[in-house]
Amino acid sequence: MGPPGGGKGTQAEILSEKLSIPHISTGAIIRNAIREKTQLGIVAEGYIEKGQLVPDDLVIDMVSHRLSQKDCENGYILDGFPRTLPQASAMDKIGIKLDAALNLVVADEVIVKRLAGRRECKRCAAPYHIDFNPPKVDGVCDKCGGELITREDDVPETIRQRLDVYHQQTEPLIGFYKEKELLVNVQGRDTIEETTMAVLDALGVKC
Ligand code: AP5
Repeated sequence: MGPPGGGKGTQAEILSEKLSIPHISTGAIIRNAIREKTQLGIVAEGYIEKGQLVPDDLVIDMVSHRLSQKDCENGYILDGFPRTLPQASAMDKIGIKLDAALNLVVADEVIVKRLAGRRECKRCAAPYHIDFNPPKVDGVCDKCGGELITREDDVPETIRQRLDVYHQQTEPLIGFYKEKELLVNVQGRDTIEETTMAVLDALGVKC
């Protein structure tokens, strides 16, 4: 968990490689559905463009389907799900058990700067930043050679809306997971590497 641009995707990608388990980003699945113009993508597009959350029932179905696939048998890292109390309750009902709910704590002012410089691979969705995590070759993904693009929801007005939605609808999950003794808070640091060290330390992961 964490605010938009808080580093969830970046840290999830690093952890996924270190632990050899899939990184499941609901945002990436939805953006892919939009690109492929699937039924989900057609419905979701209007919500994403406005910085609003996609309806719970659609996202819950999408995640249940993804977690039933073979590569999830030995665990997975959820990025961006659950994001509302109904999504968290649905997860409990489906029987999805969490080892930890990692919460990246980052101030709103830092977010705006990070999102303005973010780039994402059009093909594999790997995250980059023009200053803090640049690719080796300008505009090209280090991992798959795909084109790097700016996300459509990374414009100032939509970023503000996403932050509002985060504070109203997702922040209550912090209390929800604290009560369940699953909450692990990590203060986001000035560099990706320092944040990774703090995340691994907080989760007790040795790599
Ligand atoms: P989603 O894709 O999940 O977007 P988000 O939550 O807004 O988060 P971001 O992907 O923007 O940021 P991040 O925290 O992953 O940060 P990142 O690592 O990229 O969701 C998009 C939309 O889909 C939502 O608005 C909603 O409409 C819909 N959606 C998704 N899930 C949903 C759900 N469950 N329910 C309903 N709707 C849903 O880092 C940001 C930048 O900062 C990068 O450039 C990175 O390189 C850089 N950076 C990261 N860490 C550091 C650091 N420590 N120091 C310096 N730079 C850093």
